[in-house]
Amino acid sequence: MAITDSYSRQINRLRISVTELCNLRCTYCRPEAGIALMEHKDILTYEEIIAIIQSALKFGITSFRLTGGEPLVRRGIDSFIGMLAKVEGIEDLAMTTNGIYLKDYAKILRKIEVFRLNISLDSIQETKYKQITRGGNLSDVLDGIEEVLQLRFKNTKINVVAMKGINDDEFEDFARLTLERDIEVRFIEYMAMNKSSLTSENKFISSSEIISTIEKDNELIPLPKPVLGSGAARVYKIKGALGTIGFVSAVSQPFCDSCNRLRLTSEGKLRSCLLSGGEVDLKSILRNNFSEELLQDAFIRAAHLKPRKHSGRGHVVMHKVGG
Ligand code: GTP
Ligand code: 5AD
Ligand code: SF4
Repeated sequence: MAITDSYSRQINRLRISVTELCNLRCTYCRPEAGIALMEHKDILTYEEIIAIIQSALKFGITSFRLTGGEPLVRRGIDSFIGMLAKVEGIEDLAMTTNGIYLKDYAKILRKIEVFRLNISLDSIQETKYKQITRGGNLSDVLDGIEEVLQLRFKNTKINVVAMKGINDDEFEDFARLTLERDIEVRFIEYMAMNKSSLTSENKFISSSEIISTIEKDNELIPLPKPVLGSGAARVYKIKGALGTIGFVSAVSQPFCDSCNRLRLTSEGKLRSCLLSGGEVDLKSILRNNFSEELLQDAFIRAAHLKPRKHSGRGHVVMHKVGG
């Protein structure tokens, strides 16, 4: 049985935040002082997440992405990956990671054939990377990326949040990483958090401006939408390059009309939309008089809470929702 929302959009993807914690504190994501720790009992256990995935599979939701915070900082994530490997019916399994621990985990992740990785990297200049992430080591991420390329993961993406005055001098350098690497460098429009308007902060720079910058010295060829991933991105290739360049333009060209996803927070809320819309508490269902019927009903309720379009007001706390 498929699950559709009130606007006839079919839901087939679930983004799962396994923890709010992160080993970095990127300036656009969380405050300098960090965030208050949740108690471990308040976050879903891995077994509970698997139960939710199994319920989702019954609705034809077969594509899952693990997010955080940083998913690789949660204790036991390697055994969880092992548990996921045994779940039948998952067609696409992905993770969004900051890549700091990737070198240690790449081999474990590679054991799952369908695994895809999106790696956040907003600067390839050491000092600037440290400033944006408030302390991260660029070489850790670059080593992780090299390992991933060696192991030939499919569909690896580098997520670059475009920020005016911060990394706009590096757009071409990022684009040229695709010349000899089989990766997708994906520019993401900056979403100002907790502001009255998504574009109100002066760091915003649109995808079309980024395209103009790259096109000054490179020929960009538009590509058809790939079947897997990048549902939200427009994809190009520099003529002759091995890899591709994507643009996620959630601010300048919202893709709400084709939105196909629900989001699960680490504390067990099934959210209908990244930026607005309601949520349904799955944890209370799992921990009180659990029945599969109640869980299925919760999915249907969450799908129906999906707004037709997000309100354009960014009141979301990114680290809770996992981007
Ligand atoms: P693929 O499966 O590779 O297409 O990945 P993805 O784009 O779904 O996942 P990723 O975690 O790499 O997302 C990158 C960024 O795109 C997010 O952090 C958000 O900034 C943005 N994004 C992803 N999903 C949504 C969405 O549903 N709505 C909006 N407005 N932005 C989104
Ligand atoms: N604007 C745009 N993207 C963001 N992300 C987190 N915060 C923001 C923001 N304010 C995305 C980045 C990162 C992923 C984990 O979340 O793409 O790679
Ligand atoms: Fe951590 Fe990712 Fe947020 Fe950076 S953007 S602080 S890496 S969760």
